[in-house]
Amino acid sequence: MGIYKNIEDIEKIKKACRVSKTILKKIGDSIKEGMTTKALEIVAQNLMKEYNVHSAFKGYRGYPGLICVSVNEEVVHGIPSEKKNIKSGDIVSIDVGFRYEGFCGDCAATFPVGEISEEKKRLLAITQKSLLAGISAAAPGKRTGDVGSAIQSVVESGGFSVVQEFGGHGLGRTLHEDPGIPNFGNHGTGEFIKENMILAIEPMVNMGESKIKILEDGWTVVTCDGLPSAHFEEDILITENGNEVLTVYDG
Ligand code: MF3
Ligand code: CO
Repeated sequence: MGIYKNIEDIEKIKKACRVSKTILKKIGDSIKEGMTTKALEIVAQNLMKEYNVHSAFKGYRGYPGLICVSVNEEVVHGIPSEKKNIKSGDIVSIDVGFRYEGFCGDCAATFPVGEISEEKKRLLAITQKSLLAGISAAAPGKRTGDVGSAIQSVVESGGFSVVQEFGGHGLGRTLHEDPGIPNFGNHGTGEFIKENMILAIEPMVNMGESKIKILEDGWTVVTCDGLPSAHFEEDILITENGNEVLTVYDG
């Protein structure tokens, strides 16, 4: 399947995106201090049965979990673990991708647990603001660098830094399709965005420096300086005049 979707495909992708967002929010609502990240995966597993969807992450390039749960300095791709406890003051990034009738939805959000620091609150707010700026910049005739540049400028004017090794992507029957959507870059560069593309926009924002490394488990991405990181992701359909956010909660 190409990067431009037809009407039937779009209807199925919309369902996959809505159910992904709905399950994401329900997992977020279930987070309590003292839980392990594995317990959150079990919450996800039960919701997957209820909504009759499958994980698009499990087995993707050998990823072992159903969802990703990344705490504090973990940026993305945290593998749910019985050894990892969640405590008050943490920020927990949940990333989910579910397949429904052959199509993937993919979304993420970072949730505060109990009372978090003012700087963590600001990190979450700026990351969400950068996602909205990236979404606003995505329209026919614009380019992927316009989206990246919009994200980067919000993040850096907030005094934070963007992770450069990972980014957004096209989405469809497979989780990652062309075009790649960097979270940094320059206006007027990169691939052209066209009507009927489906794009996942997903800034990963570090409180400190942008440098990251991957832990020995081969998956967990952490900040090198140990400072916290946030991640928000939505899927959009490029329309004639702009875009439509597809990852909407519908209980
Ligand atoms: N939402 C992420 C992404 O779009 C997570 C996928 S990684 C996986 O890249 F391996 F867990 F699938
Ligand atoms: Co994604």
